[in-house]
Amino acid sequence: MCIGFFDSGIGGLSVLKEALRLMPNENYIYYGDTDNAPYGIKTKEEVKALTFSAVEFLVRLNIKALVVACNTATSAAVRDLRQKYDFPVIGMEPAIKPAVEKNNGAEKRVLTLATPLTLKEEKFRDLISRFDPGHIVDMLPAPKLVEFAERFIFSGPEVEAYLREILPSDIEKYGTLVLGCTHFPLFKEVLAKIAPGVDIIDGNEGTVRHLHEVLKSENKLESPDQKGKVTFYKSGVLVDDPSLLENYWKILA
Ligand code: DGL
Repeated sequence: MCIGFFDSGIGGLSVLKEALRLMPNENYIYYGDTDNAPYGIKTKEEVKALTFSAVEFLVRLNIKALVVACNTATSAAVRDLRQKYDFPVIGMEPAIKPAVEKNNGAEKRVLTLATPLTLKEEKFRDLISRFDPGHIVDMLPAPKLVEFAERFIFSGPEVEAYLREILPSDIEKYGTLVLGCTHFPLFKEVLAKIAPGVDIIDGNEGTVRHLHEVLKSENKLESPDQKGKVTFYKSGVLVDDPSLLENYWKILA
């Protein structure tokens, strides 16, 4: 059986990349809802409805677990998904806890980049109130990065100009940038250039480790000697366009 990966578009590929590294023997179905991206500027209700309809599609393909490889969809729908389905549903969570632990006492602040909806949602507010007692975390919505990524633009003058415009000019006061959107790790190189010396972290590896633990505890891991495969769907349509597949695999490489 397959593991379903879901994102509003291509951002979840940054999570799938980790999964392929840790569990190359599993079979994956990747569903990017490209026709409806971006999600981060929609309402919670809209994102929930889109997420449910994508997940129902994946369920018909018979999945043994679901990774909601999208922080925005996780904030809007993970609780309800877990209530409806009995397979494991793994969501994303911005890596606030490790970032605060690292910077506490170092007199540096933490900057979280995510979509407007993620930053507005209760789930994120809860995370902050649990793990940021000293109020060292700042928030920055960066919705345009999602649009660049969906056009497969991950660097260059347009991206740099946007980042220079939105990032605080006193970036050196930050010890860590937390990438709270799965599209954003695709911009790690340009972010490192614009924010030199600032640590950049995402929750991708932690999410995949958690997926592995859950599958292991439920005895659902595939045999270690089989070679897994990945099938891609774009808003319900099987992706077979070679140039699009080539773009996907470049991200996964
Ligand atoms: N990749 C998504 C996330 O992790 C959402 C991006 C979007 O569609 O706005 O938040």
